[in-house]
Amino acid sequence: MDKKVLVVGGGGRCHAIVDALSRSPKVGKIYCAPGNAGIAAQAECVPLKDTQVDELKDFALEHEIDLTVVGPEVSLAAGIVDVFNSAGLRIFGPTRDAALIESSKDFAKHLMDECHVPTASFRTFDDYAEALEHVRGGKFPVVLKYDGLAAGKGVVIAENMNQAESALKDMLLDDKFGKGRVVVEEFLTGPEFSFMCFVDGDKVWPMTVSQDHKRAYEGDKGPNTGGMGAYSPVPIITDEDIEYSLEHIMKPVAAGMVAQGRPFKGVLYGGLMKTPDGVKVIEFNCRFGDPETEVVLPRLETDIYDIFTAVTDGTPMPEIRWSSKSAIGFVLASKGYPGSYEKGYAIEGLAEAEALGDIRIYHMGTAEKDGKLVTSGGRVLMVVGFGDSLRSAQAHALKAVGCIRCDNLFYRKDIGWRVL
Ligand code: AMP
Ligand code: GLY
Repeated sequence: MDKKVLVVGGGGRCHAIVDALSRSPKVGKIYCAPGNAGIAAQAECVPLKDTQVDELKDFALEHEIDLTVVGPEVSLAAGIVDVFNSAGLRIFGPTRDAALIESSKDFAKHLMDECHVPTASFRTFDDYAEALEHVRGGKFPVVLKYDGLAAGKGVVIAENMNQAESALKDMLLDDKFGKGRVVVEEFLTGPEFSFMCFVDGDKVWPMTVSQDHKRAYEGDKGPNTGGMGAYSPVPIITDEDIEYSLEHIMKPVAAGMVAQGRPFKGVLYGGLMKTPDGVKVIEFNCRFGDPETEVVLPRLETDIYDIFTAVTDGTPMPEIRWSSKSAIGFVLASKGYPGSYEKGYAIEGLAEAEALGDIRIYHMGTAEKDGKLVTSGGRVLMVVGFGDSLRSAQAHALKAVGCIRCDNLFYRKDIGWRVL
């Protein structure tokens, strides 16, 4: 068929969404705004930013787009779904009110309390002195979370009073991320995993689970990043853990959103931790995870266009099937990331890498300059390998990484260390 789809966003997650849509026989044309040099091979890139909500709406009307799919949280928090809905356009994602589950940590924590969903105990502060007093009277490490969107950088795990004081000062006195509050949270331990579900109101359809690696360097050391690699499935997470997470976390929260008058439609992402006391919530996101999507969607065997329309239109959901293959992805990032880094370095060897087979390369931050592929972001490429086991997927991916030549990239070789 000939459906026209617009994907909003430009990183590896959107490349994986575009890739999944391009496998649908129903989809005839894909646009991506703004896209990137890799996405351009599968979609027509549109020079609009993910926050240019009105311009995106005009584009969708003009080009008679059948379905828009939103990648980044900034577009959702900016109300893109509300604007498209008002214009009678079909769009996959939550409204601004429902996106609050990610954009406000305080909202998410209170919702979890109301729904009796297991999570770390917490208190919210807007006053620096009060927050400091509370932290002084509690245990270390303690988790301090800025109550707003901070691109994964608004969370500090303070080991002692000095670190806590400096983080609270950044967040509450110096407004480093903007004017906001701070959630002070109990520190939990255990392996984390990402449980993304398609959600339409109180109906919840689970995806296969994955695990992200947030720290920049091997051994889970160094600063937090947007994610340095991921794999799926996650053998240490049992079927019972998944069943528990679905029944006692994702479904009650989806029902809680309906009860609050802000029904959720789209992908609800549970950032969960398997603690010694059972699975607990670390955070919720209101969209596909990045880089988890790059290892989850290539394993999807069902037509994703049908899934998207089932959620947006409330039509019957097809059976969602997953390949038994394992997937593991290595992020190649610019040297210096997540701090400052340079752009514009030539990248070569991608065709050779893909020719090895059992490989997909998703572009995170690339551009074309004078006919050549160059780096244009902190995270540049995600090389995903597939195999009958995680170990063979890892071997395929690392061999492919070895083909890629660029003077300014680094990566973590230990993605998957918890299970390999
Ligand atoms: P968040 O942005 O809330 O996902 O936090 C970023 C990272 O900080 C998480 O992926 C965890 O590794 C860590 N973290 C957040 N909250 C906690 C907690 N309560 N206990 C332990 N680690 C946490
Ligand atoms: N990988 C974590 C996130 O998408 O927020």
